[in-house]
Amino acid sequence: MSEPLDLYGVVGHPVAHSWSPFIHSMFARQTGERLTYRLYDVPPERFRSHVLEFASSGGRGLNVTVPHKLAAAQLAGESSERARVAGAANTLTFTGGLVIADNTDGVGLVRDLTVNLGLVLENRRILIAGAGGAARGVVGPLLGQSPVEIIVAGRTAERARALAQQFESLGPVRGCALEEISLGSFDLIVNATSASLAGEVPELPETAVGPVTTCYDMAYSRTETPFVRWAQERGCARAVQGWGMLVEQAAESFQIWRGVRPDTIPVLTLLERGAPLPPR
Ligand code: ATR
Repeated sequence: MSEPLDLYGVVGHPVAHSWSPFIHSMFARQTGERLTYRLYDVPPERFRSHVLEFASSGGRGLNVTVPHKLAAAQLAGESSERARVAGAANTLTFTGGLVIADNTDGVGLVRDLTVNLGLVLENRRILIAGAGGAARGVVGPLLGQSPVEIIVAGRTAERARALAQQFESLGPVRGCALEEISLGSFDLIVNATSASLAGEVPELPETAVGPVTTCYDMAYSRTETPFVRWAQERGCARAVQGWGMLVEQAAESFQIWRGVRPDTIPVLTLLERGAPLPPR
C-alpha cells in the first residue's frame, strides 16, 4: 500500500472560493512534493478545536484566512517575529507537538511589488488605506523596504492611529483619517480596506494619485476591482490587483512547510489569464 500523502489545508469562514487548493496543488506538481491540500469552512467558535484536532490527527500545516488570523496567532505555542509583530498569522505548522505561527502576507506583498512588478520602495511615499487585519500584516514588511514615510489612513481615525503607533519603532509610519491625508501624490497606494466587498472604494483625496503612482489592490477578482477602476480613472501609472500577493504568500507558506521554493510566475500567469474557477 502506498504511504498516505501529507495533509495541509486552508481554514476560513467562508472559504469555498479560495484559490489556495489550486495554487498549492500547482506548486506540489511543479516541485514533485507529495501532499494533499483541502478546504475547511470553520466558524470562529470551532476554530481552536478544529486546528488542534487537525494537528493531532497528523495534519502538517494550515493556512488561515478571514476571520481567523488573530485567533491563529493567539493559539500558537511559538511564533515567528513577523507573526508576533503583526499580531496575526496566516500559516500554521504542526511539528513535534508544537503549533508554530507565521505570517507570509507582508513578505508576499513586498515580493510581488519588488520582484514581480520591479518597484523600488526605498525613499518612496506609501499610503495604506484601511486599518484592519489586512493592513496590520503588511506595515512591518513595507517599513523594512526603507520608505521615506508610510501613512495608514482609515475611515475610523483612531483605529488607524493606534495601528500606526504599534509599528513606530520600526520606521516612519503615521496614522490618520482618510480626510486628513496630507497633500501631494504617493508613489504607492495599497488598498487594504474591505470596501470592495461592498463594491465601494475608500474615499481618498484626488491629490493622492499622480502620474507616477502605483495603485495596488489587496483584493482580486475575475473582473476589474472598483479600486483598480478608480485608480485608472485618475491617471495612475499602474493599477494592480492582488493576485501576485496571493500567489507569493502561498509560495512562502509552501517553502516553510516543504523547504522548497516553487516558481510563482507560471501559477500567477494562469490565474491572471483566467484559470478555471474552483468548484463552488
Ligand atoms: P481585514 O481583516 O480584511 O483587514 P477588517 O479588520 O474588518 O478586515 O478591516 C477592514 C478595514 O477596511 C477597516 O479599516 C475598515 O474601516 P473601519 O475601521 O472604519 O471599519 C475599512 N473599510 C471597510 N469598508 C470601507 C469603506 N467603504 N471605506 C473605507 N474604509 C473601509
